[in-house]
Amino acid sequence: MPLRHQNQESRRRAKPCHNGQDHPDIEYYRDSKHGSIYFIEGHGWDWNKQLKDANYISSTCQSSHMYYKGQYSHNMVRKAIMGEGNVLFYDNIFKGVKPSDYINNSKELMSRREAWIEVCEQCHSTRFSRDYLDSMDKASDSIFQYVSDSYATIKSLYDDGVLYPMPKNRPKAPVPVAKKYPDLLGGFYGEFWAKDGKPSKIEKDFLYMWENDAFLVRKGLAHMNPNGFPDISWSNLLKKYVDIQSEANTLRRLAVLEKKAKVRPSRAQKKSK
Ligand code: HEC
Repeated sequence: MPLRHQNQESRRRAKPCHNGQDHPDIEYYRDSKHGSIYFIEGHGWDWNKQLKDANYISSTCQSSHMYYKGQYSHNMVRKAIMGEGNVLFYDNIFKGVKPSDYINNSKELMSRREAWIEVCEQCHSTRFSRDYLDSMDKASDSIFQYVSDSYATIKSLYDDGVLYPMPKNRPKAPVPVAKKYPDLLGGFYGEFWAKDGKPSKIEKDFLYMWENDAFLVRKGLAHMNPNGFPDISWSNLLKKYVDIQSEANTLRRLAVLEKKAKVRPSRAQKKSK
């Protein structure tokens, strides 16, 4: 596609896929300052210009994501940092690495961050751009704390044999899900497959916490959407955090009662390692 058309055509193409609850890119952009300006004034901008000559007053999907070190192209992943929720907010739990350290300790990711700052600098000061994006990482660290706390809660239920049903007493998720417990607690498979108590309610909440809410905090911040960030993502994550704590308490209290009354199926009480 010639670059002249890239500007026009990619405007139509971004919207049908980049929307919805799990990746509300267009909604977050639309309700940001950048998007508000585009939706109010954009109809008067000249869309036949090549991106390099466009010089619009606010950023668009294309001017942000297609830009890399002075040039525009279709390669939109060269600046990608997030790795969705799975790297920052799930894999890193097992490594005990918080998002800001994960990013700051990676040469590759830091060079991607610099490439993003180059985008912002077209309109904002370097300090403003850098501070804003750093604050996004700091918010991610706070979120990571809730996510890793929740995982520790669920893992301790598993270790003590009070998760119900325990994984060995329920069906295995179909291939390609192959990971072993406890790494699989609250795994991604639960968004696509469920059977006979698997995943359990507490794991389901944890899954939507890391895969959806945590990720959306970052996405809201990355799109400068003041509402998307606290209201849609952070508070939803807190609701799940509260539910997870509460469900863990219920499971533990039930286990004590069942043990006392000797009513719990013995196989569910055994420690499973
Ligand atoms: C093409 C120009 C342009 C680019 C590129 C751009 N911005 Fe903006 N930005 C604007 C304009 C215009 C405003 C609105 C300013 C106002 O309301 O006074 C704005 C507003 C903002 C705001 C304030 C939002 C609010 O609710 O007050 C933040 C934060 C922001 N931009 C961050 C960034 C970051 C971070 C980048 C790079 C990833 C970036 N911008 C790239 C033009 C741009």
